[in-house]
Amino acid sequence: MLAGKRVLLIIGGGIAAYKSLELIRLLQKAGASVVPVLTRAGAQFVTPLSVSALAGHKLYEDLFDLGDEAEMGHIQLSRTADLVVVAPATADLMARMAGGRAEDLASTLLLATDKRVLVAPAMNVRMWTHPATQRNVATLRGDGVLFIGPNDGEMACGEFGPGRMAEPAQIVAAIGAALGGGPLAGRHVLVTSGPTQEPIDPVRFIANRSSGAQGTALAVALRDLGARVTFVTGPASVPPPAGVDVVRVQTAQQMLDAVQAALPADAAVMAAAVADWRVANASAQKMKKDGAGTPPSLAFVQNPDILATVAQGAMRPRLVVGFAAETESVVAHATAKRARKGCDWIVANDVSPKTGIMGGTENAVTVISDTGAEVWPRMAKDAVARRLAEKIAKALQ
Ligand code: C5P
Repeated sequence: MLAGKRVLLIIGGGIAAYKSLELIRLLQKAGASVVPVLTRAGAQFVTPLSVSALAGHKLYEDLFDLGDEAEMGHIQLSRTADLVVVAPATADLMARMAGGRAEDLASTLLLATDKRVLVAPAMNVRMWTHPATQRNVATLRGDGVLFIGPNDGEMACGEFGPGRMAEPAQIVAAIGAALGGGPLAGRHVLVTSGPTQEPIDPVRFIANRSSGAQGTALAVALRDLGARVTFVTGPASVPPPAGVDVVRVQTAQQMLDAVQAALPADAAVMAAAVADWRVANASAQKMKKDGAGTPPSLAFVQNPDILATVAQGAMRPRLVVGFAAETESVVAHATAKRARKGCDWIVANDVSPKTGIMGGTENAVTVISDTGAEVWPRMAKDAVARRLAEKIAKALQ
């Protein structure tokens, strides 16, 4: 997948640096050559010898190593690679990148390179969510820097949340995508996500508890495998990912219009929790109490079924995937739903409150297709997304 590609790998100083050794191994297995650079802090976590031995390449550590300047200057070093990868990228290293600093070899290479840069952040949850780090991330994204992760999960420091470095296999997939070689390169995938809001009057609406987390994670996973992703999202509580075409909608009808405008696509993944009904008699003005204490009555009309419309439409993508959030008889209901809607797969889950799935970080799904029901173990929503994205890539091969 990466045959003949050259990756300049900058290993920053964090406990996740140990995973970079595995990353080197996987990159080589994929056919890439790795030119390693170890920061001074990075060398506190992994040894120069293990890095250069695994990479099978000279290790670069110091800007003022005259031998290096004579053999290969930092400008040349920053440009001979096809891609520059920073893994782990610490908060400090990203701050230096965002500030355009050039005070050591790593930051100088990052400033001098004319190649794309992919960073895999790794840090404590608080450090990642700190406004200063988020400002730096936004600056770097604006500069065209690509990000993979961080993932949610338990951290070496004992805390839990976003900050874990992406797994080496995930970084390899992102490198493949960045170099145009991911398994979904050249494919267009449509993803719907989040709840819809159906107005009652200009200030009130009917909605549901969907956070958009699973749909967002899916868009990220598909993007990381190289797909061009159109992400049609209702008002979700998680922000839409970078590197995808975002179309924001509010109602089911708007979502249907946006989905139809985005076709053709190779695959459609409908993770949105679309309202089944909208208010038929929505008021153009804010509804008022009538003084007599009579509550208003709302009449409902059924919304279009976006999944069924796409699955049975003339522009049907080759693969159509729906979701089924159920609170009982999950597999039976989802199997019937797959037939009724005409989609290829249904990703079913139990959203009864006791599972903590709706609005939570984990999911336990069963994938129903024409070959039967595949039960996946409970895992983080981004892990579900990656596994599903890989299954999609395989189906589109
Ligand atoms: O019928 P139900 O809402 O349970 O079906 C869930 C699946 O159908 C999800 O994939 C959801 O995105 C999709 N759906 C839709 N349009 C609707 C209702 C559901 O696309 N109006």
